Amino acid sequence: MEYGKLLSWKQEDNRFMIQFEEQQVILSVITPDIINFFVPCWDKEHYSKAIEGDKSQPCTVEASLENGQFRLSTDKLTVIIGDEFMTDVYDADGTLLLSDYRQGRTVKKTVSKQILDILQAEGHDISNLLRNDYKVLTVKALGKTECFYGLGDKTGFLNKRNYEYENWNSDIPQAHNEDYHALYKSIPFLICHREESTYGLFFDNTFHSYIDLGKENPEYFYYAADDGNLDYYFLGGSSMAEVIGNYTYLTGTTPLPQLWTLGYHQCRWGYECAEDIREVATMYRQLQIPCESVQYDIDYMDHFKVFTWNEEKYEKPGKLFAELGESGFKPVVIIDPGTKVEPGYSMYDEGMEHGYFAQDVNGETYVNEVWPGDAVYPDFGRQEVRDWWGEHHRFLTELGVRGIWNDMNEPASFRGELPKDVVFHDGERTTNHAEMHNVYGHYMSKATFDGLKKLTGKRPFVITRACYAGTQKYSSVWTGDNQSLWSHLQMLIPQLCNLGMSGFSLAGTDIGGFGADTTPELLTRWIEAAVFSPFFRNHSAKGARRQEPWQFGDEVVDIYRKYVELRYRFLPYIYDLFYQGEQNGLPVMRPLVLHYENDPKTYNLNSEFLVGENILVAPVLEQGATARMVYLPEGTWYDYWTGERIEGGCNILRGAPIDVCPMYIRGGSVIPMYEPVQYVGEKPYRKLMLLTTPMGGEWVHFHDNGEDYAYRQGAYTLYRFTVDADGTLTTTLMHDDYETYDQIEVVMIGK
Ligand code: GLC
Repeated sequence: MEYGKLLSWKQEDNRFMIQFEEQQVILSVITPDIINFFVPCWDKEHYSKAIEGDKSQPCTVEASLENGQFRLSTDKLTVIIGDEFMTDVYDADGTLLLSDYRQGRTVKKTVSKQILDILQAEGHDISNLLRNDYKVLTVKALGKTECFYGLGDKTGFLNKRNYEYENWNSDIPQAHNEDYHALYKSIPFLICHREESTYGLFFDNTFHSYIDLGKENPEYFYYAADDGNLDYYFLGGSSMAEVIGNYTYLTGTTPLPQLWTLGYHQCRWGYECAEDIREVATMYRQLQIPCESVQYDIDYMDHFKVFTWNEEKYEKPGKLFAELGESGFKPVVIIDPGTKVEPGYSMYDEGMEHGYFAQDVNGETYVNEVWPGDAVYPDFGRQEVRDWWGEHHRFLTELGVRGIWNDMNEPASFRGELPKDVVFHDGERTTNHAEMHNVYGHYMSKATFDGLKKLTGKRPFVITRACYAGTQKYSSVWTGDNQSLWSHLQMLIPQLCNLGMSGFSLAGTDIGGFGADTTPELLTRWIEAAVFSPFFRNHSAKGARRQEPWQFGDEVVDIYRKYVELRYRFLPYIYDLFYQGEQNGLPVMRPLVLHYENDPKTYNLNSEFLVGENILVAPVLEQGATARMVYLPEGTWYDYWTGERIEGGCNILRGAPIDVCPMYIRGGSVIPMYEPVQYVGEKPYRKLMLLTTPMGGEWVHFHDNGEDYAYRQGAYTLYRFTVDADGTLTTTLMHDDYETYDQIEVVMIGK
């Protein structure tokens, strides 16, 4: 992209129009910490799908042009821009945070046609070798020490430095190894961290985009896209938590979920008939392993037609829901976007009549193939289509369905990818698949969320596979079709931590692995590692070994029960973290670097995580291991299982036989806990326990009906608990508009 010499600037409210010889650039000051850089090389509008409403706040800005350089300062940031739109960003102390790389990209990939043909013939992915000319590009200088976090569900490790990624939502049934640059989600939000500074970058462009974090050249990192505008936000903040707060201020926080959704879920593709589901549900109750839902995968539908019911295999609609509802099971069913082509099927007929499905360039309804065979794709970018789709959930909610699982919404297509020119809409604006691909799942989740909210009045429980930045406002996510591989268990921590730092707090993996065959040991270690995964579901694929815990004998069942019960004990703590996260954007599951950002030992720590600030979990992630090294950061820690006090700032060796997942409680914390139940709602929670350490501490605890929006009208209780070192509890009711507990018990670890 050419800009030329900087000529002039003018201001309109919080917008600063900077004129270069070849191009106009607009800077918008959103808050003192958030500045948008906008190059309208595609359209003069932003058309953000991630950000709803105007987020700009009044703030003091000083701007000037001196010696050919435009300078803009807020209380927190200073931006200096010169010719060719070369930009530097400084913090209020004058520390240089981000700098455009002056030399441009230095590596040109030139490979002869002959070599390309050979590589392609042998099945190699050559797309990477062809990328020399991106339409949208910005290249930033890379120092020696920056680490990168965020980017949603990308494969690999916590720190993304030295890798390249793509944003193009992709259905990947093969093992998700590091050579996959794109998975199901596109969340172009990056946290750049050095010991002395942190900032964020959010590239708000839904076209196929590319992020290279020092792989091409260790001196720079770049963002590029096939089309659209260069439209990025610089996000300041004095800590990583503040940067995440600023990002979620823009794109929205994960809303408080219903309490039961944080319990345990079981699924398999496929439980092929009602009897399969009944049997699994009954086993959970018999074995006394808590469980909220046995989820309904695609087989419950009549020929995979959405919003239908297969009575032949799944009995009368609603019968099983009512029966299993008596023992606390809440139905959650899958809904895919691909709508079967079948004249006479109401969804198809209605959609065709109103023109709700995407069309090809000739105005014919576009057909590809998904589970039902020939299928058409609802054009979810249109409000009218979302309303129509949302309303159709009535069929399910009236039967008692409590949650909707949206899948195959990259969108998946079995006869090759949808051509880029398939016509979609963004609101009333006509556009195409190239722009809307990465937000297909986003808008489908929005349709589901809005539909459920309207129909039930409860906080919608939506699970989606594909999404874009901002989808966290509508849906939880899981990481798609992983496999029963130790490497995928290991990826759980970086993947969920990066999703969390990208706004998606309510995220989980398929416990045990979806594809391939799990082993007793792998499943056991997975339930241990996943015990604090915000979305907590065991799921497996047709053809893979059955994966319910009882398939593996009594020892596995006992350990499995121990950890699922542990999850239910910590439910009030997890729920409190969601309550806080709705306000501050922080996830439940956090990498250590988020709270120990000045400790370089945490920067690449892939095998441990924090739950909030107070619990450190170091699961065993290696086959055969019965001990592991645990890094405890600065501070005092207490072994959850033994009560041993350990001074942090060191590595320790912890024995971890098959039934032990090493866990540590931070000295000074107070953690609310419940007695485990078989399911949320089995009995009212009358007693709260406060787990604390001999250092005492403080915690603010939120309690409400766990289901609807009454808390937003004030129907909740907010407690401040202060526990002294001797265990004396002082309780302050900060807000008192919901029931209070009958009993509060202090449990001091190690005593
Ligand atoms: C996809 C989903 C998986 C589901 C299957 C059948 O592969 O990722 O979770 O079970 O489709 O619906």
